Amino acid sequence: MTLDEGMRDRAFRTMLGHVEKGTTDEFGEIAPSEAVEYRDPDLAALERDRVFGEVPFIVGHGSEIAKPNEFLTRRLPRNNAIVIRQRDGGVKAFVNACRHRGAQLVEEESGRCRLFSCPYHRWSYDPSGELRTVTLDDTFGDFDRSEFGLVELPVEERHGFLWMIDNARREIDVETWLGPEMDAILAGYRIEDLVSVTPHTFDRPTNWKIMQDGFLDNYHVKYAHPNTAGKVLHTNKLALEDFGRHFWFLAARKSIDRFIGEDSTGVDAANHTIESCFLAPNSMLLKHATHVELLTFRPCGADPGNSVMEMRLMAPTTEVTGLGQEEWDRFWAKNWKIMISIIHDEDFPILEGSQEAMRSQDAGTMLLGSNELGNHLFRRELDRLVRNVPADRT
Ligand code: FES
Ligand SMILES: [Fe+2]
Repeated sequence: MTLDEGMRDRAFRTMLGHVEKGTTDEFGEIAPSEAVEYRDPDLAALERDRVFGEVPFIVGHGSEIAKPNEFLTRRLPRNNAIVIRQRDGGVKAFVNACRHRGAQLVEEESGRCRLFSCPYHRWSYDPSGELRTVTLDDTFGDFDRSEFGLVELPVEERHGFLWMIDNARREIDVETWLGPEMDAILAGYRIEDLVSVTPHTFDRPTNWKIMQDGFLDNYHVKYAHPNTAGKVLHTNKLALEDFGRHFWFLAARKSIDRFIGEDSTGVDAANHTIESCFLAPNSMLLKHATHVELLTFRPCGADPGNSVMEMRLMAPTTEVTGLGQEEWDRFWAKNWKIMISIIHDEDFPILEGSQEAMRSQDAGTMLLGSNELGNHLFRRELDRLVRNVPADRT
């Protein structure tokens, strides 16, 4: 089933029912968990390899490397990567390591480069990854240079995003990974027409699952954010569509209350709800009436206690909005500040504290409630990936 307008309407009506009755979509049971899941290096190594080494996840928005030879670098769980726009408009990704003796080729987080030149002995590589120059090659010795280009990593641009699998031995197919429902939803958002305003990376001393869980959680809103999000959003109210791996859900603004018991036909739901997509294995996409936000989480290698969170806001261009550059900048800076005041100032300390609490050897079994539906489904997919690696991929 695709997310047609009928389905959106149904979710809106379901949400109105939840608000009226104090209910929410539920998982149907409580599930236990243990602190060791957030501090076990063996489990972290499995997540690194069987999750991030096997399936596509987002590493950026295409507008962040809009022009040929523009690149960005990313510390992914298995590899340090360079992603670079090609002359023909395509994208390629490489391991950020010189093939001579392995020096880090690029140190910048982003930039534009016609030739990657290694700081150690000045070998150089084309943006397509080919080895161009071997310095003092009359004494270095002969070898097949075509075999010693940069190691390529699978990358694909789809729905405006740059997706990678962090494993040189895999092929990427984002459409298949998303499945027909989520692929159609993302196509409908036309994120490729937006520009990434303020991509930002946060190093967090917190397990990536605690981070991801925190942003799938609609149960904490009024308790952890009483003066910010809790004032405008409903707590513990989800209307969710499960696509088996990814899922889509509505969260409600309090402004929805005026439609309780009223005829809501023709109402523009976007003004009263936030559409959220969980893009397995590690991202939350939030679709607002005016823009899109993306939060991604990934571990640092096999370290269970540290993660990287990327946060970006994607907005219509100045041309589309009709705003002057200054006005446009100001408008989105304001939106960004609101995000930061909630996520950075209120969520981060709680989530960091959770990681600290997980150090306790006798923390006791924890519980995930039936109402915490999104978290159950995240866990379901993660368990599947960590446990079931297809036989041909071992
Ligand atoms: S390590 Fe790069 S040129 Fe030697
Ligand atoms: Fe929060």
